[in-house]
Amino acid sequence: MMRVLPSACLALSVAALLGACAPKEPETATEPAVAATAPALKLPVSINATMVALVDHASEPLWVDTYVAPTTDERWAEAEYNAYQLAVAGKLIQLAGTGPNDANWVSDDKWKADADELSAAGMDALAAAKARNVDQLNTAGDRLVAACESCHRSFKPDLPTMGLYKSPNYPPKTE
Ligand code: HEC
Repeated sequence: MMRVLPSACLALSVAALLGACAPKEPETATEPAVAATAPALKLPVSINATMVALVDHASEPLWVDTYVAPTTDERWAEAEYNAYQLAVAGKLIQLAGTGPNDANWVSDDKWKADADELSAAGMDALAAAKARNVDQLNTAGDRLVAACESCHRSFKPDLPTMGLYKSPNYPPKTE
């Protein structure tokens, strides 16, 4: 855009012109960089809610020693979706949500390692589901449980559940 000097300035002395009409100092020096002001990506709910509604919900149907192992293509496809959810959840819970402890947890290296392990176990479960292999799914399930327990031992032991429990009727116990 072309800058047009206000005509009043033209009538002023050179000294006044420098003061009144000189271009303003660029403000970049005092303004924080864009990256610093961009809000950190945050979950819209608590990590606890994510645990119940995503992590726990997706993992339960994969416990093949507790629930009926998949036999149909439809159930195997569900197992694949659950495995995807866990693989992604392990990364999601590395973002803080609205819970009071979330920010502390996600900044802890042990938390990150346990969450990455959850993702890795989810990827194992995905490979097992794609291979339609119950034994492999069972092995992935063992790795999953170990990831849950490792993190819960470190971060959850004395914490209340904040009133969020999974449904006792999910998943269905029969085909
Ligand atoms: C990286 C850490 C971490 C991993 C991995 C993890 N959890 Fe959690 N989980 C937590 C924390 C911390 C809480 C408590 C949150 C709160 O109370 O605000 C929690 C809460 C829960 C809750 C709700 C509280 C309760 O006791 O009912 C369930 C259910 C749960 N987790 C299941 C699981 C399952 C199943 C897995 C593995 C498939 C798992 N979690 C993996 C950290 C983890």
